[in-house]
Amino acid sequence: MLAVTVSRPGGPERLSLQEVPEPVPGDGEVLIRVCAAGVNRADLLQREGNYPAPAGVPDWPGLECSGTIEAIGGGVEDLSAGDRVCALLAGGGYGELAVARSGQVLSVSPNLDLESAAGLPEALATVWSNLFMIAGLRSGETVLIHGGASGIGTIAIQMAKAFGAKVAVTAGDRQKLDLCARLGAEVLINYRQADFVEELRAATKDLGADVILDPVGGAYLDRNIRSLARGGRIVLIANQSGEVGELRVGRLMSKWGSIHASALRSRPESEKDQIMSEVLENVWPLVLSGQIKPVIDSKFSFADAQLAHERMESGAHAGKILLIP
Ligand SMILES: NC(=O)c1ccc[n+]([C@@H]2O[C@H](COP(=O)([O-])OP(=O)(O)OC[C@H]3O[C@@H](n4cnc5c(N)ncnc54)[C@H](OP(=O)(O)O)[C@@H]3O)[C@@H](O)[C@H]2O)c1
Repeated sequence: MLAVTVSRPGGPERLSLQEVPEPVPGDGEVLIRVCAAGVNRADLLQREGNYPAPAGVPDWPGLECSGTIEAIGGGVEDLSAGDRVCALLAGGGYGELAVARSGQVLSVSPNLDLESAAGLPEALATVWSNLFMIAGLRSGETVLIHGGASGIGTIAIQMAKAFGAKVAVTAGDRQKLDLCARLGAEVLINYRQADFVEELRAATKDLGADVILDPVGGAYLDRNIRSLARGGRIVLIANQSGEVGELRVGRLMSKWGSIHASALRSRPESEKDQIMSEVLENVWPLVLSGQIKPVIDSKFSFADAQLAHERMESGAHAGKILLIP
C-alpha cells in the first residue's frame, strides 16, 4: 500500500509517498481503509525527528483517521467489516490502511461526513481528558482556551459550551476570533493586540478563569497564573513558546491554584481506551446530533502532504487540516 513517509528528519519536503507493507490487525484491533487522516502538530515534530513513533507502531505519521473497516482481529465483537468509523491511532494514519485498537474506534453514522470525522478523535480525546477528566470543568465555570481557532481549540469551545461553561479564547487575528464566536466563545481576545490577563479580568469582573487550556507553555506560565480564579486549574498540553517559564509560587498559592500537564500519545493504551470510552458515552452523542461539529480548514491529497504541513507551520489555518489518500 502507499503511505506518506518521512525519508529523513527535516522539513515538509522530506514527506513522500512510498510503498510500505500493509499493517495487520492483531487481537483487539481493526484494520481501517483510510478515507481521511487528520494532521496534528505532533506529526510535524515527528517529521523533524523530535517525536519518534512508539515501539510497535508504523513509523509514518498519523494520529487519527476515518474510513471503513476492512478486517477485524481476534476478539473484536462490536465492529464488523464495512463499518464507517473514525479512530485514535498511536501512529500510521498517513497510509491507505491503518490499524486501530477497537476500544479507540468511534462509529460514524450516515449523517456525519466520513472525511470530516477524521478530524475528531485526537481533539475529542485531548479536550475530554484535559478539560473534563483532569481539570474537572463544571457547568457555570469560566474556561480560557488559548489558540481558540486551532484544531484542538475549535472542539474545546464547542465541548465547554455544551457542558455549560462560559468560554473565553485567545487567537491571533480577527477572522479566527470570529470563528471562535460562531462556535460559542463569549470572550474574544486578540493576543497580538491586547494583554489577555487584563482582557480576561475585565470580562470576568476580576474573577478570572476557573480552568485554562494552554498549548503555548513557558511564556504564558506567569500570565496564566495571574488569570486564574481562586481554585483555578491550568492544564498544559504543549510548549509552543518554549520549555521554560516563571513560576511564582506565592502567586499560585494565593489563588489556591493547580497546574496539570499531560501528553496523549504516550499514555498507556488502556488509559486511551478509557478516555475514548468516556468520549463515546459523553460527547459522541453530541457529535452525532450535530451539536458539536468538526471544523475543517482544508484538505490535501496524500501526494500533497508537504503542502498540508507547510500550511500548519504557517499558522494560517483555523480548525483541522486533512489528508486524503
Ligand atoms: N498534550 C496532548 O495530549 C496534546 C494532544 C493534541 C494536541 N496537543 C497540542 O495542542 C496544540 C494545538 O494542537 P492543534 O492540532 O490544534 O494545532 P494547531 O491547529 O496548529 O494550533 C496551534 C495553535 O496554537 C496557537 N499558538 C501558537 N503559538 C502561540 C503563541 N505564542 N501565543 C498564542 N497562541 C499561540 C495558535 O494560535 P493563532 O493561530 O491564533 O496564532 C494556534 O491556534 C499543539 O501544540 C499540539 O501539539 C497536545
